Amino acid sequence: MSRLLCLAVALSCTLDARAGTLPSFLRACSASDPNLSQCVEKVIAVGGGKFAKGIPELGIASLDPVHLGRVVVDNPALKLTFDDTVVTGLGGFVVNSYKIDTEKGKATLDFTANVTLKAHYDMDGQVLILPIRGNGEAKIKITNLNIVIKYDYKTVDGYWTVTGYKDSYNMDRAQFKFTNLFNGNKELADTTVKFANQNWKLIMQDIAPPAIEHIIHKCVDEVKKLFKSVSATDLLAA
Ligand SMILES: *[C@@H]1O[C@H](CO)[C@@H](O)[C@H](O)[C@H]1NC(C)=O
Ligand SMILES: *[C@@H]1O[C@H](CO)[C@@H](O)[C@H](O)[C@H]1NC(C)=O
Repeated sequence: MSRLLCLAVALSCTLDARAGTLPSFLRACSASDPNLSQCVEKVIAVGGGKFAKGIPELGIASLDPVHLGRVVVDNPALKLTFDDTVVTGLGGFVVNSYKIDTEKGKATLDFTANVTLKAHYDMDGQVLILPIRGNGEAKIKITNLNIVIKYDYKTVDGYWTVTGYKDSYNMDRAQFKFTNLFNGNKELADTTVKFANQNWKLIMQDIAPPAIEHIIHKCVDEVKKLFKSVSATDLLAA
């Protein structure tokens, strides 16, 4: 490839997503739209997947995949740590609803995604009465992870600032795979994984709070970055 072409490609990318302007795949709704919530919901539904890929020009990191690093499960009966945790699938989300109240500075986003968490795990302890121990690769598939984020925001110097948020989540099912359980004792491992999958709710009670709160925190963080670099009037036209 010629150097000129490389330069042209690089330049057009830079011009496409200048810091401070709304990325082209997002559209500003009008604050006076009587169905503002529906308008924003549509923008999120259409552009959210692309947003999830990250916008390097605005310093917005990828949410699909999203890197969580270390996730520590806090349970006295079970020592479990995930390292190099990566979650995929958030970008394929479906918006269930979006509501915004610009007077009060409150909004709620409700969405569902099928996600997969992969990590290196280190585990030692008990699930119910069953001992479980191992060190290897973990994979957790979560079907229909439903996340609701309610956030408060206010406009400071022309930019939206998220002042706080509350979240809740739910899921239809979680399924686990662990390599090298019990130092590779296949029979014991198979029985234990089967038991874990049958009792996924119980196990997710411990894993979900640190893992899913971490995912939600990342989502909020990246949206905060968007609000920080694109002015309120560019996000929501007059
Ligand atoms: C707003 O949404 C409602 C319900 O979906 C619809 O009946 C109405 O026509 C919409 N109004 C406008 C101005 O688009
Ligand atoms: C998740 O996957 C299930 C089946 O595997 C499918 O029925 C469902 O629609 C998917 N959910 C989303 C949000 O894509």
